[in-house]
Amino acid sequence: MFINVRLPDGSVHRLEALEGWRVMEVIRDWGLPIKAECGGACACATCHVWVGKEWAGKLVQPTDEESEMLDGAFQVDERSRLCCQIIMTPELDGLEVELAPESLADDADIPVAVGSSG
Ligand code: FES
Repeated sequence: MFINVRLPDGSVHRLEALEGWRVMEVIRDWGLPIKAECGGACACATCHVWVGKEWAGKLVQPTDEESEMLDGAFQVDERSRLCCQIIMTPELDGLEVELAPESLADDADIPVAVGSSG
């Protein structure tokens, strides 16, 4: 299964994802420049993404912990999630997320991810 990730520069990357992986891990492990400072512990909000509207209903609702952490992020709206808290399941095949600008790694030198079709 795949996810589609839009970076702040507008580029879209189609990445292969495995069941049980966190969306943050998929993005990071394919080499896209995501900060994800706490490594997935729901303690930093630097993995903030906007989820495509049509996907919202398919995601498990955010925990209180995630909502509190998101409160401290910028440009939060109803599409906002911490992508380290989204676990891949077959229902999420094709998931579309957009990386919020503050989640972009500072030294972002946008690489061409392996497995990406641009
Ligand atoms: S990586 Fe820190 S909250 Fe997701």
